This record gives sequence, C-alpha cells and structure tokens, in this order.
Amino acid sequence: MNQLKKKLICFCILLIVIINFDASFAQQPKIVSSYGPINQDVGFDQIKADRMKVKADRAKEHMSMLNNRYDLSKKTSPDIVMSGGKPIPVGPTAKLQGTSWLEIVKLTPEQIKTKGIFPYKPLPFADHAEGGMLFPPMITSVLPRLVRFDLDFDLPEHILPDAIPPIYLTTRPDLGDVSKGQLITIDNYYEIFNGLLNPKQLEGLRLLVTQFPQQQFNATEDRRTDRPSLGVSCFDCHANGHTNGANHLVGDIRPQVFRHRIETPSLRGVNIQRLFGSQRALKTIEDFTEFEQRAAYFDGDHAMAAKKGVNVFERGSQVHFMAEFMAILAFPPSSKFDIYGGLDKTKASKAELQGEAIFNGKGRCVSCHTAPYYTDNSMHDLKAERFYKLEMDNGMMMAHDGMIKTFPLRGIKDSPPYIHDGRCFTLEDVVEYFNLVQELHLATPEKQNLVAFLRVL
Ligand code: HEC
Ligand code: HEC
Repeated sequence: MNQLKKKLICFCILLIVIINFDASFAQQPKIVSSYGPINQDVGFDQIKADRMKVKADRAKEHMSMLNNRYDLSKKTSPDIVMSGGKPIPVGPTAKLQGTSWLEIVKLTPEQIKTKGIFPYKPLPFADHAEGGMLFPPMITSVLPRLVRFDLDFDLPEHILPDAIPPIYLTTRPDLGDVSKGQLITIDNYYEIFNGLLNPKQLEGLRLLVTQFPQQQFNATEDRRTDRPSLGVSCFDCHANGHTNGANHLVGDIRPQVFRHRIETPSLRGVNIQRLFGSQRALKTIEDFTEFEQRAAYFDGDHAMAAKKGVNVFERGSQVHFMAEFMAILAFPPSSKFDIYGGLDKTKASKAELQGEAIFNGKGRCVSCHTAPYYTDNSMHDLKAERFYKLEMDNGMMMAHDGMIKTFPLRGIKDSPPYIHDGRCFTLEDVVEYFNLVQELHLATPEKQNLVAFLRVL
C-alpha cells in the first residue's frame, strides 16, 4: 500500500512538472522572426491544404476592400491607345466617401485624415499576410506555369499594360517595334533577335527569358505551384522589357504588415536612370540585376534563397550581359517632342500645351520630373501619410511610404496602374493624387489639360 502511495505521489509530481513546463512554453511570447521557415516540418499537401482553407475568404475580403475604394468597371478611351494598341483606362476610378473632387481639396490634410476619406491610401497585396509574386491572367493564360494555386490576381485587365508590349531599341530606332508582335520567351528570342543584337546582348536576353528559382516558384514543399517549378524569368514580369502588371511585396521592410505592394516597373529607359528600385536606390542596373535574383526573388531572405536554389549570376559576364541588353530598351517614340524634351509647338494641341504649362508652372511637377525624361533621378518623400491614419486595412498597415524614386514619365500612358503600389489606376487618378498631396487646388480644365499632356509624354 505504502509503495503504491509513493508511486502515486511521484506520478502526480511528474504530472504537475509536465503541465507547468508546457504552460511556461505556452506563456512564451511568439517571436516575430525576420526569417522565413527554412526547415519545414509539414509536407506540400498540408501546406497546400492550409492555404486553400483561407483562399476564398481572403479573396472575398480583398475584393470587397477594392470595390469600396475603386470603381472597377471598364472605362477606357476610344481614341488614346498604348504603344501596343490597347485603349488606355480612364478615371478617376477612386471612389469618394460622401464628398466630391472639388470639395475634398478644400479640406486640410488633418481634416481628411480625421474624416478617414483619403481616396489613395496604400494598396494592400491580394493576400498581404502571404505575399509573393502574383501574375495577371493575361500572362498565366499564355504561360500556365505561372499560376499559383493559392492566390488569384486582383486587378481587372483593362487597367493593366499591353499584353504584348512593343520593344524599341536605342541602337536601332529605324526599326520601330522589334518584337514582331510576339511575347518574347525562351522559345522565340533567338530567331527574333539573332542578327539584331551583338552576341553579349543576345546572351543577356537569353538569361532574361530563362527561369530561375523563386520563393513561390521552385521545387521545395514550400512552393505555391501544383507541380515543382524551375522558377520565373525576368521577362515573366518585365514582359518584353516593359511590364505586364505582375506584382510583389518589397523585400526590404519588416514586419510583413509594413511591406509595400510593388508593381513591376518598365525597364524602358533604364539607361538614363541612376537609381533602381522604388526604395532601395541601388546605384547601377548591374547591382539591381544581381540583387533581384539573389535576394528580391526570395523576399530578401538569403537563407531561404540558399534552400530554394538561388542562381548566382557571374558578375563580370552574365550580370553585365543582362544589363547591356536592358540598357538598350528605349522609351516609346514620341512625335510631339523637340530635342529639349518639351512639346513641339507646331505639333501639340492647345490642351496639351496648356497641360505642359501647368506641369511646369502651377502644378510644380517639373521640380521633380524634369525634361527630357521627366525624372530628377532622385527620391522624394511625398508624405501622403499626412492624409490617413496609421491603422490596419486588409492585412496591411496604412503606414508612411517614405522616400520613393521619381519614376520617369516618358511613355507613361503605357504603364498603368501608377505609383509604386498601383494605388492610382489611371492618369486622372494620378492628377487627383498630386492635386491632394501637393495641395494644388487645380481647376477642372487644368486637371484635364494636365492629363492631355501626360498622355503624349
Ligand atoms: C514580380 C515579377 C518580377 C520579376 C520576375 C522580376 N522583376 Fe524586376 N522588378 C519587379 C518589381 C516589382 C520591381 C520594383 C522593385 C522595387 O520597387 O523595389 C522591379 C524592379 C526592377 C529593376 C529596377 C527598375 C527601376 O525602375 O528602378 C530592374 C533593373 C529589374 N527589376 C530587373 C529585373 C531582372 C534582371 C530580373 C530577372 C533576374 C527581374 N527584374 C525579375 C518585378 C519583377
Ligand atoms: C516632390 C516631388 C514630386 C512632385 C512635385 C511631383 N511628383 Fe510625380 N512622382 C514623384 C515620386 C517620388 C513618384 C513616385 C511615387 C510613388 O511611387 O509612391 C512620382 C510618381 C508620379 C507618377 C507615376 C509614375 C509611375 O510610373 O507610376 C506620375 C504619373 C507623376 N508622378 C506625375 C506627376 C504630376 C502630373 C505632378 C504634378 C502635378 C507630379 N508628378 C509632381 C515625385 C514628384
């Protein structure tokens, strides 16, 4: 009996110790790590099942946020088309909550913030907590290898660039569009460009259309494609050296809720630019090329990159060749500009000329977007957060943007949606955005003329 009592007491003590041990674990605050999970303890099927469980709900929440903020119905210009022939979207598309464009500018930033009515808050990613690269249907329909099982693209196609953007080369302006109306991939790049490029540029282009492993597109259990993937190519997003509206989360910021959604920028005109990335401000196109595959492809997580099979380019040849090709991608030709990069008065319309005058005068756009390429090759903090509260919206913190690169405006009608995260769907929205952010108080005809000017840039 005594023996049994002793045993029972021992057992109880052990139980208490175990329970306390467990509880002390549960009390440990959860660490928010900078790193992603490298050593997965669950397999592909489980990871996929977990993602699929939340897919429909998150998509519903995201679409309801988009519908609250924007008019997503199709409105395009009948007569103004992008270089590849697609009609440009027309706005403003942002919805105003109980005010009008003429009324809202009468309020101070503080009043707009208090009322919570700023129409251009930071745009969250389709599933912000999840992130990754996300491709529009116009590319996944051609390249089904870019379909993610866990996430659908969010923006309507009419506010995206040409599906097959033209390619203009600084080296051969006489040829016009050299893409021959085709989407350049590994299947056709050689026959289209052999004889047109020097061997280094041709090899650079080959690398730009070759798939390399990426965070969601790779062979590990942690991928977001049904089948193991060889990865993505640079031109999967920078379609024909331009952009197809694919988007991503910026790699530089933590924690996740503070990361910016980023729209793929065009690579046209990188030769005249001196800073690369909306925030990173890398100093050369070579640096960006190297960094894009080494780090940005893996959310800025070098440990994850090593696991998923990062392809490290050789700097002296491969990086240099890729950069050499990118540096001959020209802005689309514009017939209305003189050699100083201003409008040719004999060719421009009255509205375009008046728009240019506002751009250089009352609008003060020129103080950052200087001719001939309409960039100052610098960065600016527009302090848009003066107009909205620091609060969560659809998994994203509505925080400051900070300093952002002045993107060049040449050929700008070809690359909606605008601003680093795509929060402005049309040029009309951009003008309303700056009208608010700069507190310009532009009259309606002034805004219309400014849009007319942006359309011919
Ligand atoms: C999501 C699809 C995607 C893929 C694939 C991709 N990029 Fe990008 N690229 C982006 C985005 C988004 C940015 C903007 C980055 C930022 O704001 O920090 C960018 C920026 C750039 C820039 C700087 C442009 C500028 O105006 O500042 C260069 C150069 C570039 N990418 C080259 C490449 C190369 C080379 C590859 C292949 C190794 C590649 N990209 C693959 C989306 C992509
Ligand atoms: C203080 C500097 C500054 C002024 C003034 C300014 N901009 Fe900008 N502009 C920027 C910066 C910086 C960006 C990038 C902002 C971002 O992505 O968050 C930008 C982005 C843009 C874009 C979108 C580019 C793209 O590729 O998405 C357009 C269009 C534009 N500006 C037009 C204008 C017009 C029109 C005006 C005058 C009404 C103007 N800007 C005034 C600095 C400025």
